[in-house]
Amino acid sequence: MAKKFYITTPIYYPSAAPHLGHAYCTTMCDVIARGKKMRGYDVFFLTGLDEHGEKIQKNAEAKGVTPQQFVDEISVRFTSLWDAMEIKYSDFIRTTQPRHEKTVQKIFSRMVEQGDIYLSSYTGWYCVHEESYWTETQVGPEHLCPECGRPVEKKDEPAYFYRCSAYAEDLLRMYDANPNFITPESRKNEMVHTFIEPGLQDLCVSRTSFSWGVPVLENPGHVVYVWLDALTNYITALGYLQDDDSNFKRYWEDPDSEIVHVIGADITRFHTIYWPMFLNSLKLRQPNRVFVHGLLMMKDGKMSKSRGNTISAYPLIERYGVDAVRYYMVSEVPFGDNGTFTPEQFVMRINQDLANNIGNLVNRTVSMIIKYFGGVIPAFVSGVNPQDKELEEMMKDGLRHYEMLSDDLKVTEAYAEVMNVVSRANKYIEETAPWALAKDPEKSKELESVMAHLAAVLYYAGMLLSPILVKKSPAIFASLGLEEGKVSYDHVVDFGYLNGLTVVKGDQLFPRLDAAKEEEAIKEMMAAPKEKAAA
Ligand code: MSP
Repeated sequence: MAKKFYITTPIYYPSAAPHLGHAYCTTMCDVIARGKKMRGYDVFFLTGLDEHGEKIQKNAEAKGVTPQQFVDEISVRFTSLWDAMEIKYSDFIRTTQPRHEKTVQKIFSRMVEQGDIYLSSYTGWYCVHEESYWTETQVGPEHLCPECGRPVEKKDEPAYFYRCSAYAEDLLRMYDANPNFITPESRKNEMVHTFIEPGLQDLCVSRTSFSWGVPVLENPGHVVYVWLDALTNYITALGYLQDDDSNFKRYWEDPDSEIVHVIGADITRFHTIYWPMFLNSLKLRQPNRVFVHGLLMMKDGKMSKSRGNTISAYPLIERYGVDAVRYYMVSEVPFGDNGTFTPEQFVMRINQDLANNIGNLVNRTVSMIIKYFGGVIPAFVSGVNPQDKELEEMMKDGLRHYEMLSDDLKVTEAYAEVMNVVSRANKYIEETAPWALAKDPEKSKELESVMAHLAAVLYYAGMLLSPILVKKSPAIFASLGLEEGKVSYDHVVDFGYLNGLTVVKGDQLFPRLDAAKEEEAIKEMMAAPKEKAAA
């Protein structure tokens, strides 16, 4: 039976239209999900929106619409962007959906019954922007939010609390038993030393000062405070405590299902401390991993809606194609590290990797097979040229590394392995010099072997890059004369698979860009980031 894999993005706040930073996280998850699917896993990929909270309520009021109208409008901006980015999610959860709200109420009631949640009152420093309470020490003498730097306000209100102390020990034991639970490792140390060791404060899980949230059935006037509402999306979307809970059984309850939450560093605390505790309360298994990715920044700091230094993905997709944008994200920012978006690097990646490397290999290979063999791919034989074996071994090793690195979520490195093989193949052309072999009738075997090897590399690269190059990878297969149904991961290092096929010359895969001109064009997009109106 196929191995199961459940991957989630954070659910984003629809307080404004999405920017390249949101697209980054979602695209990385899409690449991971597609990669697993390609390898035969049974995959469920969830993304969605976190639609409640004071900020949404305030933004809606400012616009003169209801909060529901407000989020309905912005949700379309998100789903349109995901369509444009070719994101193939299995489900899109919105926390205002009845399936979610009803389940959150059941979860809340159960926690109250168990004594995990109790009624008290809260006085604290609250940041409206981050929707977080902070302690006296955290806000410092100037009373500024430690996350976003905005002034915080003192608040006092009746509130329900989640009893964290009950589960702190379990949490540390769970980290010890699952060394990969929080990756990268540095994030785990930060959680343990900054939050757990000093003693966890009970978490506020209801509010009375605003109404845009899931009503607490036990106590009218309270709405579920946003993190208990938000985090549970990962199970409500699968049908937890609902009539049809087949996905929940399949992707969550099954101990063999691998569960991965991908998040940004800003929300690590909620995913690695509170979420495991909530799951403990519900007597549910833990996810296998919380992977903390870095931020995509602009030169002047974190890309964020409130700073107004965002860039929209749309003009980039329109001008360079979705594959180029997806490839840039995977290759430029090592997954887990922060990265800075610059027009120079964006153009360089396209030119160096896509135009000069893979694009060039496709172009040269297809042209030479047409020129020397009338378009028919010669039969694959091993060991004719001195470099043949090395290239074959590199492909086989590369495949093993690709799988291992992908499974370990070292996504950038996994794809770099594939691009290394592509570079090696371009070098192989220089070394074997097919144009010289073609002039010597004695060397026909050598020439055949070179062409068969190059075609094999194209199949290999087309396959392994397909989770990123969703449009161009089918074009690579088409140029090898392969019909859609004939493409399968099983043949990725099945070197004779292409024998006798007839290649087809297509359009240039990735035309080389005029760097100076394109850098200017991107700078203009950055100066005036415009969201394309949702269709
Ligand atoms: N709604 C909460 C998450 C609840 S999850 C149960 C939230 N939403 S958010 O809209 O602020 O989005 C947070 C996530 O968006 C980050 O954790 C990160 O994954 C992604 N990013 C937001 N800005 C980003 C960048 N500039 N760069 C990369 N990712 C970014 O917090």
